[in-house]
Amino acid sequence: MDKLETTYLGLKLKNPIVAASSGLTSSVEKIVELEKAGIGAIVLKSIFEEQINGEVTSMLSKDTQNSGYPEAEDYIKGYLRDNTIKKHIELIESAKKAVNIPVIASVNCVSPDEWTSFSKDFQDAGADALELNIFYIPTDRHEKPGVVEQLYIDVLRKVKSQVSIPVAVKFGIYHSNILGMAEKLKANGASGIVMFNRFYEPDINVDTLEITSSEVFSSPSDIRRSLRWVGMVSSAVSNLDIAASTGIHDVNAVLKQLLAGAQVAQLCSTLYLNGVNVVPEMLTGISDFMKKWNFKKIDDFRGRLSYKNIPDPMLYERSQFMKYFSNR
Ligand SMILES: Cc1cc2nc3c(=O)[nH]c(=O)nc-3n(C[C@H](O)[C@H](O)[C@H](O)COP(=O)(O)O)c2cc1C
Repeated sequence: MDKLETTYLGLKLKNPIVAASSGLTSSVEKIVELEKAGIGAIVLKSIFEEQINGEVTSMLSKDTQNSGYPEAEDYIKGYLRDNTIKKHIELIESAKKAVNIPVIASVNCVSPDEWTSFSKDFQDAGADALELNIFYIPTDRHEKPGVVEQLYIDVLRKVKSQVSIPVAVKFGIYHSNILGMAEKLKANGASGIVMFNRFYEPDINVDTLEITSSEVFSSPSDIRRSLRWVGMVSSAVSNLDIAASTGIHDVNAVLKQLLAGAQVAQLCSTLYLNGVNVVPEMLTGISDFMKKWNFKKIDDFRGRLSYKNIPDPMLYERSQFMKYFSNR
């Protein structure tokens, strides 16, 4: 066994570096390039529920002849849906033919409705696993937090009832009880979780008085968003693989997440900003680190600094800068 080998969602990976879902995993050429660079697995660009709904609305608003006819909306929606799904199935099939690493399909969902029914088609097309990219923004102030959490569980259960391949749930940091959320996802069939997705966030341009988009890419300091939760969830919930995501830009960030208990590290922004060569650099960096500490396999150090494995777990719980500010 090669010393960097690992498993993720029950799949065999030659190393713990995974290309996160993004435009960089949306074509076979890019996926082949990532495999050549040494990536352990790839998550395909998500197929988006919101995008199809948005395209239908925009097509109908341009189509004055048919606007106002509910049948027209259903027809266009059905056409767009089928076309988008067909293209995605083709991508899965050709990616599977072109590379030898695991290919994980990604589905963006905001509801457990019929939208998830094509998950089975993705399995049949050869996807090794599914990643559900779920994000729901509560805009109703009367909605109870438990209802929001339940939506994630409902989507997962619906998909799990249709596929036999492993399913991971990718969610954002904004949950009231992340440990509880992870436990519930596992209890409802998730093989893994991706912590965390990084979403589009609005910004304000004070010169033009317009709403704009904030920075698309993460920065290395964003690793702090997930490190605490990787360390805590990996200790609290057993048999649930954690893919760390957000702010992993260099080998030290990968090592930190593995030491906190992550199974794999997902890369996105650094691939956009620095190119695929970051992958071989990281792999060499992990090997050098293992040599230095005489670790023979990743499991020799995975989780070594997780919540349950450190003498003072309070270090993960501390939330205030008390000491820092009392000295300033
Ligand atoms: C341009 C771009 C496109 C993305 N597209 C998707 C997507 O289709 N599905 C998804 O689940 N995440 C998507 N993401 C989120 C990334 O997969 C990743 O979770 C996030 O960027 C945090 O990782 P990073 O700090 O390494 O960028 C995208 C991110 C970027 C920057």
